[in-house]
Amino acid sequence: MTLPPIITFRQVSKLYGHGEATIRALDHIDLSITAGEFVSIMGPSGSGKSTAMNIIGGLDVPTSGEYLFQGIPTSGFDRAQLTLLRRHMLGFVFQGFNLLARTSAVENVELPLVYRGMDHRERRSRAMIALEQVGLKGREGHTTQELSGGQQQRVAIARAIVTDPAVLLADEPTGNLDTRTSAEIMELITRLNRDNGITVIMVTHEEDIAAYGKRLLRFVDGHLASDHAQAKEHDHVL
Ligand SMILES: Nc1ncnc2c1ncn2[C@@H]1O[C@H](COP(=O)(O)OP(=O)(O)O)[C@@H](O)[C@H]1O
Ligand SMILES: [Mg+2]
Repeated sequence: MTLPPIITFRQVSKLYGHGEATIRALDHIDLSITAGEFVSIMGPSGSGKSTAMNIIGGLDVPTSGEYLFQGIPTSGFDRAQLTLLRRHMLGFVFQGFNLLARTSAVENVELPLVYRGMDHRERRSRAMIALEQVGLKGREGHTTQELSGGQQQRVAIARAIVTDPAVLLADEPTGNLDTRTSAEIMELITRLNRDNGITVIMVTHEEDIAAYGKRLLRFVDGHLASDHAQAKEHDHVL
């Protein structure tokens, strides 16, 4: 038995607006991503990258075509089912970290588990494990403003993986970080992909950040302009 791809787009289009003003953000995209892949997405501003990520993330739906998750068409999902997909299968990391201020690292990481109705002790213990995985053991009690940008992004990654998602969606995860800290964050994401088997889909503007992915998609004007496997030039560093 072969498993279906974790992510499939069949002729996915996304239109915004009406009539003359219609914008075709995605134009008949066919795509499939297998569990365990690390896919980088590049492309000019306005080429449809965020639209594609929002659809994968269950935050938006195609105008036409079909998005399948683990082979299951999502067009039949209602709002509650899309929420379940987001909470149970996907982890999100953004450029801006999006942590609660004046709140400890461990409380930020516990947050997605609160929605599961998990009791406090189990939540705390899972959050501590996630923080250890991202190299923040000993910083659990620090509030957001007591942490550096790189440490805040580590907390955000811990929050994304505490639910044990199948897919990590990262939109410009190093956009606010210096070169050295970006490399550390990319090594962490690479490790989560390689050792924990999390499927990673990451948008970036920077070629050297995109190079961490094993596959590179380039979007142009809502089309998939190229789709290549890439050698991992960072392997020797690890
Ligand atoms: N909510 C929206 N309403 C109207 N147009 C939108 C909306 N979101 C995106 N667009 C348009 O769709 C196109 C693709 O946008 P987007 O996916 O954000 O591109 P990227 O992330 O590659 O910069 C752009 O022309 C953008 O202006
Ligand atoms: Mg964007």
